Amino acid sequence: MIGIIGIGQMGKPFAKNISKCGYPLIVWNRTIEKAKSVLGPGIDLADSPADLAKKADIIILMLSNNEAVEHVIFSDNGIYPELNSGKIVIDMSTLSPTFSIDVSKRISKKGAFYLDAPVIGSVPQAERAELTILVGGNYEKFNSVLYIFKCLGKNIFYLGPNGSGLSMKMVNNVVMGGNLEILSEALSLGESLGLDRKTMLDIISLGSANSRILELKRENLINNEYEPAFKLQHEEKDLYYALDMARVSKTVMPATAVIHEIYKYGLSKNKGDRDISFIFKILKELSGKD
Ligand SMILES: NC(=O)c1ccc[n+]([C@@H]2O[C@H](COP(=O)([O-])OP(=O)(O)OC[C@H]3O[C@@H](n4cnc5c(N)ncnc54)[C@H](OP(=O)(O)O)[C@@H]3O)[C@@H](O)[C@H]2O)c1
Repeated sequence: MIGIIGIGQMGKPFAKNISKCGYPLIVWNRTIEKAKSVLGPGIDLADSPADLAKKADIIILMLSNNEAVEHVIFSDNGIYPELNSGKIVIDMSTLSPTFSIDVSKRISKKGAFYLDAPVIGSVPQAERAELTILVGGNYEKFNSVLYIFKCLGKNIFYLGPNGSGLSMKMVNNVVMGGNLEILSEALSLGESLGLDRKTMLDIISLGSANSRILELKRENLINNEYEPAFKLQHEEKDLYYALDMARVSKTVMPATAVIHEIYKYGLSKNKGDRDISFIFKILKELSGKD
């Protein structure tokens, strides 16, 4: 039996796609209504993370951050007491690599295995099972759960020992969040100079300044539509984790530090649950243009 803890924006399509592959599932979510929304033939509801871990051999986590994972594994009614050598935890949440390595060590004391398997791609890619999946941990265990990754993603990479998948995810999200912030600054400048937003995006996309994030967020930016696919608070967290890894590894990342401050400003304005593309509105506001 496969279990999923965390039926948020990404966990929901995970449940649907694993079920579509024909594997029986059990799910749990802190806000229980979200877990109930995916129930159906072959998808049951667990009473608690512990109950789920008792019934499932493979436990997928898709949670917000380090704190959520700590809570679901180690708090009262968490999965930890139910773990044993027959169980594999696949953590697909974006976490800090150091935290994830520490979790893998604590879990190995129970004889169980822990893989970090964060993803690249957002809700539409998750719904179409077209995610890129970045895996760190025991190679044999990775191979033993490849059939599950194939239900969720198109490009699946084994990166190395525990934490490697998350290290790659940090690298990716520094580039993605940085691109979007710079694009937003440039659009903000263009509007100050009297240029039309759609025209600017059309022209940028023709040349070497084009990016995948421009293509993905183009309609949000043109229509001022910021319903979340990837929440601004998740990118702030990812940059925070990346900068923490930069500190540990003594890597100089001055631009990332500044860009992180802009995302953090968005959180201070209570906009963390808007889409990441809301960073454009934040920059307009900082320029007194909104
Ligand atoms: N959305 C994307 O495009 C995307 C893409 C790649 C990677 N990611 C990463 O994937 C992870 C999940 O993203 P998402 O978009 O699915 O996030 P989300 O919609 O905000 O869902 C977060 C999930 O974590 C749960 N949670 C948070 N704090 C908790 C706690 N203390 N105890 C138990 N459960 C807790 C939430 O439960 P409640 O429902 O009760 O709040 C919810 O199930 C994040 O690490 C994100 O950075 C997201």
